[in-house]
Amino acid sequence: MADERPQVDLRTDRPHPARVYDALLGGKDNFAADRAAAAAGIERSPEVRDIALANRAFLRRVVTEAARAGVRQFVDLGTGIPTSPNVHEVAQAVAPDATVVYVDNDPIVSAHARALLPAGATTAIIEADLRDPDAILDDPKFRALVDFSRPVAVLMVAILHHLPNEADPAGIVGRFLGPAAPGSLLAISHLGADLAPEKAVGVSTAAAQGGITLLPRDRADILRFFTGLDLLDPGLVPLPLWRPDGPDAGDVTKVWSYGGLARKP
Ligand SMILES: C[S@@+](CC[C@H](N)C(=O)[O-])C[C@H]1O[C@@H](n2cnc3c(N)ncnc32)[C@H](O)[C@@H]1O
Repeated sequence: MADERPQVDLRTDRPHPARVYDALLGGKDNFAADRAAAAAGIERSPEVRDIALANRAFLRRVVTEAARAGVRQFVDLGTGIPTSPNVHEVAQAVAPDATVVYVDNDPIVSAHARALLPAGATTAIIEADLRDPDAILDDPKFRALVDFSRPVAVLMVAILHHLPNEADPAGIVGRFLGPAAPGSLLAISHLGADLAPEKAVGVSTAAAQGGITLLPRDRADILRFFTGLDLLDPGLVPLPLWRPDGPDAGDVTKVWSYGGLARKP
């Protein structure tokens, strides 16, 4: 049967966060503009590749912890181009009945996800913008897989620093955690401006030149995203210090990004 989805303009002539991140991770799903943006970032802070790798490892650890804590529903906001192990692989390794809704605004991400996600009722990909949370919350695929009367793990891993303050990122966090059942979890990773002030400005400026919003924030500002929730040990810390379980946790002298996991009381 012919694919009747409308043709989308992937705008491969300009960088997109998902493809720049894919380039940093050594993936193949990126274009010259993305690789140039990745190189510009590395020029301002040679550690950005270490940060991307440590961030993936943090994602693996928080999803494992959430599944071990008994959470069976995951919402991965800002999924990125599928990179194994993906959230459903990690969660289902602990709990085979875990479900995952992936959300990203990059059509390349959804195209890859549609091709790679297992057929069946445990995963879905929604192409939507986090700045319009209602479009996500009201999507039939979201409603089919997420039951807010049971705990859900909301993953905002390396996405909130793509939202400017005018987009009200704290309000967006609240839109997802507000209706969530007690025992729900929020995982955030976020570039930490106070960990490397000059590099943060350099990387942010380089990204802006490519049309990408990248806004590292200070720890105190990132902490506010967890308002009303109980931060679990060890709190909001540089990614390599968040419950490291192997060398892929990264080098704390290089990784200027924070991570934390919190529980709704
Ligand atoms: C740096 S990647 C992180 C991917 C993944 N969460 C991880 O940590 O490995 C950021 C992702 O967020 C997506 N993204 C950025 N802004 C977004 C928005 N406003 N709405 C939805 N997705 C967005 C990008 O397309 C990209 O895939």
